[in-house]
Amino acid sequence: MASIYLLEVSIAILCFLITDYLFFKKPHGPSLRKWPVLGMLPSLLMVLHRMYEYGIEIMEFSDLTFQFKGPWFVGMDMLFTVDPANIHHIMSSNFPNYIKGPDFQDVFDVFGDGIITTDSELWKDLRKSYQAMVHHQGFQRFSMSTMTSKLKDGLVPLLDHFAEEGTTVNLQDVFGRFTFDTILILITGSDPRSLSIEMHEDELARALDDVGEGILYRHIKPKFLWKLQNWMRIGQEKKMVEADATFDRVCSKYISAKREEIIRSQGILDISNGESEDLLSSFIKLDTTKYKLLNPSNDKFLRDTILAFILAGRDTTASALSWFLWLLSENPQVVAKIRQEIIDTDLSRTGNGQENLDKLVYLHGALNEAMRLYPPVSFGRKSSVESDVLPSGHRVDANSMIIISLYALGRMKAVWGEDALKFKPERWISENGGLKQEPSFKFLAFNSGPRICLGKNLAMTQMKTVAVEILHNYDIKVTKGQKIEPVLGFILSMKHGLKVTITKRYST
Ligand code: HEM
Repeated sequence: MASIYLLEVSIAILCFLITDYLFFKKPHGPSLRKWPVLGMLPSLLMVLHRMYEYGIEIMEFSDLTFQFKGPWFVGMDMLFTVDPANIHHIMSSNFPNYIKGPDFQDVFDVFGDGIITTDSELWKDLRKSYQAMVHHQGFQRFSMSTMTSKLKDGLVPLLDHFAEEGTTVNLQDVFGRFTFDTILILITGSDPRSLSIEMHEDELARALDDVGEGILYRHIKPKFLWKLQNWMRIGQEKKMVEADATFDRVCSKYISAKREEIIRSQGILDISNGESEDLLSSFIKLDTTKYKLLNPSNDKFLRDTILAFILAGRDTTASALSWFLWLLSENPQVVAKIRQEIIDTDLSRTGNGQENLDKLVYLHGALNEAMRLYPPVSFGRKSSVESDVLPSGHRVDANSMIIISLYALGRMKAVWGEDALKFKPERWISENGGLKQEPSFKFLAFNSGPRICLGKNLAMTQMKTVAVEILHNYDIKVTKGQKIEPVLGFILSMKHGLKVTITKRYST
């Protein structure tokens, strides 16, 4: 299957080289040359292997907004912008005009009608119900206890094991398993136990990885082509079809088990009395008089809800933690400062409850800084309902596609200053020593406006707890000579993982 894709790319590259040689003059700066009929697509394919870096160059060169012209008649024209004024306009001030849209739903079709893919009234009902559940005290307690026990009974013993054995371990894989187990427990109440010494492969986790890759390719292929490949079940699309079937099968197992559990328990677990409860139980018992468009008796609704939460909460946190620890390995002075902050806050005596975690301002700044440079969600995509003019002066036609590259946004000198490429947690510390707040349309890692991430606090708490545990108790040595680069995908994971060796700082 990979060979079919390679053939497509090779033909495109060959055609490009011939045409480029025969017809085109070199532009003055970084840009994508436009072909007759095919637009800029061949040029895009040529730079695909260094897409992120090229994206930065283009956005800097074109004053933060760039119009990509796709082939004729295939609907691939896109406006790329990283201009904070445009982002604020799109995400907040003119929010109703910028929707995910039917094309987004097509590209993300395997996720069905979950909160990430929907718009308008359905999204509003989903958002309201998610908000109520995520902010419910019972769920907050449940998430805190789940995160703590996964850390103490799952992650720590595993790190100890690797430290004792002295073996090299892929830390990104470990974090992926840690966040996968945690989010699955929060959603379904059951633990897939992917985080174990055996490191067995979980089929749901595997299917999610395949889908992440497939979604990116759907962005750079004409729609008719990937639809055809999907229909023929070839190439990347074969994996999408298989992943879809895995999602159906695994979710349906969780749903029927949960329905039976609820019937057996006859209402012993009741969200209204504030007891801990997983999200699936809460959704099954949803008060449909409050949310008229949601139908918890429909398994498809529950399937899409499970997947939306896994999509939102698994790889995002794992990716952020991996880049964070890699950046720390390159910046030992930052490690020393975080360790000092942990000692000063006296966490080992007072415990890492929310109040104490809030005192770790420098650690918070370092995590923000890692997500500025390596935003876990690499791009945002919107579609315009009606024509509009952006604050930058660019005209947007109705039904236009707009892409916001979070990776490029975090590296723009025009936005973050001359030292934009430097990892500098100090930029997040205000003059009075507190955390400096940057507007979300500038620091977009958790999105901005009415669709801002609903799991932000949960994710920050989880990342801080893990960071404290690791930095206080272990030395992490990144294996020399490995290639560290981001994968091309919706989630900005490390392409080859993060290989490290671990030693304990204190012997017991
Ligand atoms: C470091 C971790 C995380 C990052 C960087 C992050 C970032 C984001 C971003 C950028 C979006 C917007 C996506 C889009 O619309 O295309 C989003 C949406 C969302 N996130 Fe997170 N997220 C993280 C963790 C979590 C967790 C742990 C949860 C849940 C437990 C969660 C729940 C959600 C939900 C429900 C939405 C959809 C909001 C809506 O469309 O109204 N996120 N997140």
